[in-house]
Amino acid sequence: MGRILLHEETLDPNFLPSQLPFRTEELDRLTRRYRESLGRGVPFHLQISGGIGSGKTALAKRLGGDLERLGRIGPAPLKMVYINTWRRASDRTVALDLLRAVEVHLPDRGYSLSEMLDVFEQGVRRHPRHYLIVLDEAGALVRQETKLVYLLSRAAEVGLGSISLVLISPDDLLALLDPASRSSFGITHRIALPQYTREQLTGILEMRAGLALRPGSFDRSVLTQIARIAAPNGDARFALEVLGGAAHAAESEGRDEIASDDVRAAKGSIYPTVSESQLEGLSTHALTVLLALARSLRRRGSSISSLTLRTAHAALLDEFSEKAVSRTTFWRTLQELDRSGLISLETGESGTPAEVSMDELPASYLATLIEERVGHGRPKRR
Ligand SMILES: Nc1ncnc2c1ncn2[C@@H]1O[C@H](COP(=O)(O)OP(=O)(O)O)[C@@H](O)[C@H]1O
Ligand SMILES: [Mg+2]
Repeated sequence: MGRILLHEETLDPNFLPSQLPFRTEELDRLTRRYRESLGRGVPFHLQISGGIGSGKTALAKRLGGDLERLGRIGPAPLKMVYINTWRRASDRTVALDLLRAVEVHLPDRGYSLSEMLDVFEQGVRRHPRHYLIVLDEAGALVRQETKLVYLLSRAAEVGLGSISLVLISPDDLLALLDPASRSSFGITHRIALPQYTREQLTGILEMRAGLALRPGSFDRSVLTQIARIAAPNGDARFALEVLGGAAHAAESEGRDEIASDDVRAAKGSIYPTVSESQLEGLSTHALTVLLALARSLRRRGSSISSLTLRTAHAALLDEFSEKAVSRTTFWRTLQELDRSGLISLETGESGTPAEVSMDELPASYLATLIEERVGHGRPKRR
């Protein structure tokens, strides 16, 4: 067991947490609507859309699990059948999974879709339930002009039993369905999950770090740093991946606390972004500001105020026996670096200094790269 990752399995993308902060309102609303509808014996088809890592899969699984636990809703208890159709995007391979879910096994050869569905129907009759069939990552399946979606969305009419269908995809799939299938989803049966905000990502990271990591092994500033990195895409999956990577990086160096450089290293290994060529286009001013920033961050965490950076920069220029730059030049240089994507500048409330962060690569590594270019500075006196 590591010293930081006490429960690494809880960071696995397939781990389903018992709570989904910031999705509870959606979950409650959907649970209520399913209870109402199924209570009257009417299936409820649903489309869930939203960007990568917006919690679509987690929401659907939580919904299915919660409904299963309710026991009998209307005529029968509910059973969720979750199928990720991404790799097996054909009606027949999906149908094989459906058969498995009703505990009948057909060898995968030669049966037509309608033969398979006949057998499925027998299985349903032997295990009478309301089936909540979740087709995750259904874009490829729908684009292949599936018949299965139509048949499942009209299950009662075509004699397949009592079925509610959940389609999950980043984008709107209903537009691609035939009008008959689309009409069974209606207008209200779709939910589009917004991207998580930076504050929400911080909350999610807090909750998941609390499950996975040893208390005291991480500081809140590490979580806000990761949230800042993941915020442009609002992607909780990426955020959790960076958290796990940072924990590993710290453990592999024998430390028992995650440092902000571990986060940069983890981010860099997931999406290698900065190349040395990015440094080549920078002015000398920019290189020295970046060096002052890298050195400060190496010691001091995930971001610093522009005032502190300006002081550090002046000290660095002094070390190089160069004159300090004016406030305007310093500010223009920060903006140049911001545009290059190497740093990010956040202006606070009016009157408070901007915060400067650099999440692209480990600060110590960046410092070394720049020092190779500009020299280490010459002591003025020996
Ligand atoms: N609200 C949330 N609270 C806690 N963890 C979440 C939340 N939303 C997503 N996650 C976690 O983030 C990761 C990505 O979520 P997922 O549902 O797979 O996203 P999607 O299917 O939209 O790509 C999963 O590990 C999931 O457990
Ligand atoms: Mg998913």
